[in-house]
Amino acid sequence: MGYVDLHSHVLPGLDDGVKSLAESLEVVGMLGQLGFDVICCTPHQKVGSWVPSSGDISKAHADVTAALDRAGIAVELRLGAENFWDELFLRRCQDGDVPAYTGELAFLVEVPPASTPPKLEEHFFRLRTRGQLPVLAHPERYHSLCRQQGRMEAIGRTAALVVDLGALDGAHGPRACESAQWLVKEGLAHACASDSHSAKDADAAGRGIEWLRKKVGEPQMRRMLEENPRRILQGELPD
Ligand SMILES: [Fe+2]
Repeated sequence: MGYVDLHSHVLPGLDDGVKSLAESLEVVGMLGQLGFDVICCTPHQKVGSWVPSSGDISKAHADVTAALDRAGIAVELRLGAENFWDELFLRRCQDGDVPAYTGELAFLVEVPPASTPPKLEEHFFRLRTRGQLPVLAHPERYHSLCRQQGRMEAIGRTAALVVDLGALDGAHGPRACESAQWLVKEGLAHACASDSHSAKDADAAGRGIEWLRKKVGEPQMRRMLEENPRRILQGELPD
């Protein structure tokens, strides 16, 4: 059993992730070398930037899956989306059709870093009671939340907190690095993911995995990359 990546942009031509099929194979191959055997493709769903259609996503997924097969790269690609907290997401919440991970038991969401929505934890709680687990992308970027340990704990009781691996090694700047390391050391982060848009991010993810191995030890590292992501995809919030 290998690692499961809950956050990546490895389908070409849908968002600001990889640009071509060749780049897609390169990045997926690198993540495979790091130990990932399941990668959830989570193209952005963000009004005004990128809202790829489900048809385009399915086609890109089929193309990359076939190319991986031809190249002999044994990594399973699953689907998902990185839903930005905007009017489209809120409407989809009301309608019960937020683009979710394969299996429909959990979905990835990001919030505006500069102005965290008020009552975020209540909103997540309501979604949770409807049977789906919200998964919060890169909580280390939400600096106002990271300054309030109690609030981050409350959010982490209704949503899975998934830190970017690259942030652990400083790839996203000193503030995100400090917050990412704090979330992991305090035991608030449930899992880590690559958030790969390119080979550079996959490289940084490798350094993040090394940081985890050194700072929290092999068993906890494996929990955060292997066991917990699998539980999250089952709609379970890990302890
Ligand atoms: Fe992302």
